[in-house]
Amino acid sequence: MQVEIVEDYIDISKKAAEIVKTQIKDNPSSVIGFATGDTPKGMYRELIKLYNNGEVDFADIKAFNLDEYYGLPKENPQSYHYYMMKNLFDFVNIKKENINIPNGMAESIEKECEEYEKKIQEVGGIDLQVLGIGRNGHIGFNEPDLKFEAETHFVELDEDTIKANSRFFHSIEEVPIKAISMGIKTIMQARKIILLAFGKEKGEVIYKAIKGEITPEIPASILQLHPNVTVIVDKETASFL
Ligand code: GLP
Repeated sequence: MQVEIVEDYIDISKKAAEIVKTQIKDNPSSVIGFATGDTPKGMYRELIKLYNNGEVDFADIKAFNLDEYYGLPKENPQSYHYYMMKNLFDFVNIKKENINIPNGMAESIEKECEEYEKKIQEVGGIDLQVLGIGRNGHIGFNEPDLKFEAETHFVELDEDTIKANSRFFHSIEEVPIKAISMGIKTIMQARKIILLAFGKEKGEVIYKAIKGEITPEIPASILQLHPNVTVIVDKETASFL
């Protein structure tokens, strides 16, 4: 694992955006795995700037998002579909047909998970996966567990995750308690991974993820076994390392 310590959130966002830009320059039809949450928002803003300056072209990329809440339609402002449109896709030239996000309203959830996984495999897997990290060590919505879930699957969210994500909703009761998430194997098959974290709040979990024991209780710790992971953190997070 390569750990890059930068000054602050803006620098994390710029560095991450540069990595995405280089990936797309090197291979314009890259398959990129995108993440949601607060952490990558700055990176998306930087990517939009780069796009407006003609420095990056999304025309041929394929996007696969990590996860989606179960039971929220695309139009719901709290859905990850909505998030991706409003934070990136509406502002760049990605083709609609190249946007892939699990359908949280699918009639058969098992079929949706299977088909999502199949689609990722059909395009040859993910070239670059962007990750944030939950306070409990989750990546995507792979929650702490007794075993690692391999492929795209249906998840029951942890209380801690529901609490953390309630900040985006009017009340905690509105937070979905289930989700669809890429699995650990899906993520680990990505050829390159960047993991972003900032602030004191993420210090302890980043420490556990990169220096602690590899255990499904801290799902991000599995990344220690991946050959090409760059962790980008600010000084506050790094003070825990
Ligand atoms: C959510 C997402 C994750 C994300 C995490 C951290 O639960 N499913 O993909 O990494 O929250 O979010 P934040 O960046 O807001 O701390």
